[in-house]
Amino acid sequence: MTRAKIVGVGAYAPKHILTNTELAKLVETSDEWIVQRTGIRERHVADDSEATSDLAVRAAQQALERANLGPEDVDFIVVGTTTPDMVFPTTANFVQHKLGARRAGSVDVLAACSGSIYSLSIGSQYIQSGKYRTVLCIGAETLSRITDFTDRGTCVLLADGAGAAVLQASEDGAGVLDADLYSDGKYWEYLYQPGGGSRHPATAETVAGRLHYAKMKGNEVFKVAVRMFGDCAATILERNGFGAADIDLFIPHQANLRIIEAAVKRLGLPMERVLVNVDRYGNTGAASVYVALEEAWALGRIAPGDLLLLAAFGGGFTWGAALVRW
Ligand code: ACO
Repeated sequence: MTRAKIVGVGAYAPKHILTNTELAKLVETSDEWIVQRTGIRERHVADDSEATSDLAVRAAQQALERANLGPEDVDFIVVGTTTPDMVFPTTANFVQHKLGARRAGSVDVLAACSGSIYSLSIGSQYIQSGKYRTVLCIGAETLSRITDFTDRGTCVLLADGAGAAVLQASEDGAGVLDADLYSDGKYWEYLYQPGGGSRHPATAETVAGRLHYAKMKGNEVFKVAVRMFGDCAATILERNGFGAADIDLFIPHQANLRIIEAAVKRLGLPMERVLVNVDRYGNTGAASVYVALEEAWALGRIAPGDLLLLAAFGGGFTWGAALVRW
């Protein structure tokens, strides 16, 4: 059976680190509050010269190098992002050009923070169908560009970063075993960016009204996220005949340590088998699962044959889970 095997991973975080103490100079908050309520200690923020595609290209180059592949080997590029370089062309288009992936088709997928699982699922399906042999899946964000640094409810969470995974057709049993994607638009008002689209095209008024920034009802997101995480993880495990004990490593979207802990408790997994790096990266949206996957690989926390559970949720709402045999 042909599966999409992850043959290389990469990640990139902008150099500038913004600490909780620095944020406490911008809004009424404290390091203690942020750590207690979110688990976040610091996050990376892109400088003015960096757009989302620049971060994506760095992560993609590293993933390709580790896979011993060149840009011309890539058949297709999927970029999960909520913060594209421009409204159009797609960020994937910029990545394709900057990488020199001359043969590759490319597309963006906007599923907010679930862009990681959505892009992985799309890439995997193209390989399983036999259409493509090598697909580059990327999650990349510059969420700082849609962050209102006067809103303490969001500015302590959102961050910038990129991660990538190279998928290749394989017959050796390793690869993406399954992926489930979900959405429910009735929750849209819990997390959204109103300005700059066709509903509220950018005008002096939308900018003055701060509509170009992300708006969030954090408490509501929190409650639904815990349930979605737990439900979709349990469903994919059960359908594939696995239990929590079979999971070698759970790599969740890194939004908030308390959300991760609550979901892990529902799943019945020990925290030793969960990758957490939200303390150092904050919420990097569609990038977070890829960034965490790269960290797990770099730290030697994944061995051939291991079973990984990946899961994410995000604005929309969108959510999903994937099972990967390494
Ligand atoms: N510093 C200090 N106080 C704060 C801060 C802050 N940074 N932010 C909020 N507060 C205050 C609130 O104003 C409120 O004060 P009040 O009681 O006087 O009104 C109090 O803290 C409690 O607010 P809650 O919102 O109930 O706090 P909660 O414990 O829920 O934590 C948080 C807030 C961290 C936002 C949490 O709800 C959360 O993480 N939610 C999930 C958000 C998330 O994951 N979003 C990303 C989704 S993925 C994507 O698509 C981007």
